Amino acid sequence: MTRASEAPSTDETEVGSYFVANYPPFSVWSPEAIVADARPALDRAPAGVPLGLYLHIPFCRKRCHFCYFRVYTDKNAREVAGYLDTLVGEWALYAETRALAGRPLDFVYFGGGTPSFLSTSQLDSLVSRLTAITPWTDAAEITFECEPGTLTEPKLAAIRGMGVTRLSLGVENFSDDLLELNGRAHRTPEIARAYTAARALGFPQINIDLIAGMLGETDENWRQCIERTLALDPDSVTIYQMELPFNTTISGDKLHGRGQFSDPVASWATKRRWVAEAFEALEAAGYHVGSAYTAVKNPATTKFVYRDRLWEGADLVGLGVASFGHINGVHLQNLDKWETYSEAVGRGELPLGRAYRPTDDERLIREFILQLKRGALRPGYFREKYGVDIAGRFGEPLASLERDGHLAERSAERLALTRDALLQVDVLLQRFFLPEHRDIRYT
Ligand SMILES: C[S@@+](CC[C@H](N)C(=O)[O-])C[C@H]1O[C@@H](n2cnc3c(N)ncnc32)[C@H](O)[C@@H]1O
Ligand code: SF4
Repeated sequence: MTRASEAPSTDETEVGSYFVANYPPFSVWSPEAIVADARPALDRAPAGVPLGLYLHIPFCRKRCHFCYFRVYTDKNAREVAGYLDTLVGEWALYAETRALAGRPLDFVYFGGGTPSFLSTSQLDSLVSRLTAITPWTDAAEITFECEPGTLTEPKLAAIRGMGVTRLSLGVENFSDDLLELNGRAHRTPEIARAYTAARALGFPQINIDLIAGMLGETDENWRQCIERTLALDPDSVTIYQMELPFNTTISGDKLHGRGQFSDPVASWATKRRWVAEAFEALEAAGYHVGSAYTAVKNPATTKFVYRDRLWEGADLVGLGVASFGHINGVHLQNLDKWETYSEAVGRGELPLGRAYRPTDDERLIREFILQLKRGALRPGYFREKYGVDIAGRFGEPLASLERDGHLAERSAERLALTRDALLQVDVLLQRFFLPEHRDIRYT
């Protein structure tokens, strides 16, 4: 069982995840808080923060051996169509609440699973029904995640036609052998085809996802991945270090000693070195590192609105099975089983599974740790928003970061991590948690 405050006991990539996506840990969210906190929050007038919409499309052609998302590979066309009807029904229920009624959407995110798994006609129908409830013509960003092998030119044209501004391609690696070994459905020719077609359609931003530390990764292959990435010339590159949460196929294999995956996953030090090398090469080519996971070519024009708004406390409606959201100061998560989720919406109820109302101090911690993932933050932001001096509030954990040589700057204007600290930020953040959240399960 992974405990949030533990640094890895060894440098090996053991089963259990250190990735910090939210605060407080999901394990303290509860079904009881739905009635006590979530429903009252939905009945209150909005607080004037931006509003986003996340749509979880949980379908994939194949389940990648490393994947930890809630995905299905066995649903037929009728079930997929039923799920999309449920998404629309859920959005209609939200649109009737006092917290959401009449509010414009600032950003939209199609995530998964694989949104590009849907056919052009399924997408057209979904989008026309969702936007009939709330238009998103004025949204600052619409992101759409794709698995390259699911894209055709007509489908990409339809995605562009939906108003998508940020297309994200799950490239992961440029070696067919590694893609195969890790259970990916796509191969390298599909990457080039999808990327070229997307460029021709004029998407304002194309991001590619890579993973450092896939099964079978080597120094030489990773160097080639960096070269191939630079040759594509994407606007934004996201590099994750391979995590092994409990629910991946690889984790199950390791925990139960089945021995299907004999290759070990590279150590954390090796994965950090690979990301460092990639960031250095990207910087040499003119990119800017904007967080522990991303580099962008032009920070003036290439934004990531979804990430930045969430890290500054925006509201988010999360539609779909197991989706996460945050409304009027309350964290929400949907029911995480296909049947219970669909049945709840069918009954005309919001399909909530658990919730949590963070205190002001917990909201401060949440924003502080998430913003630290950018590598640098502005203490003035926390003074203005919370009336809190972070040097005082986080005196002890900041001193410990400083002692360990992890701070590149600590002034009244700016707090910045070293590059080495940024590349292991998820482990360092846990010292900012409240004591009661340090020795508990994270998820
Ligand atoms: C929802 S997927 C993106 C869209 C599409 N499903 C795909 O994979 O092409 C989000 C990203 O999570 C990353 N990811 C998935 N499992 C991971 C793991 N175990 N460790 C690190 N990153 C992972 C991959 O880079 C993947 O592109
Ligand atoms: S990584 Fe992407 S394509 Fe692979 S199973 Fe997960 S969501 Fe699906």
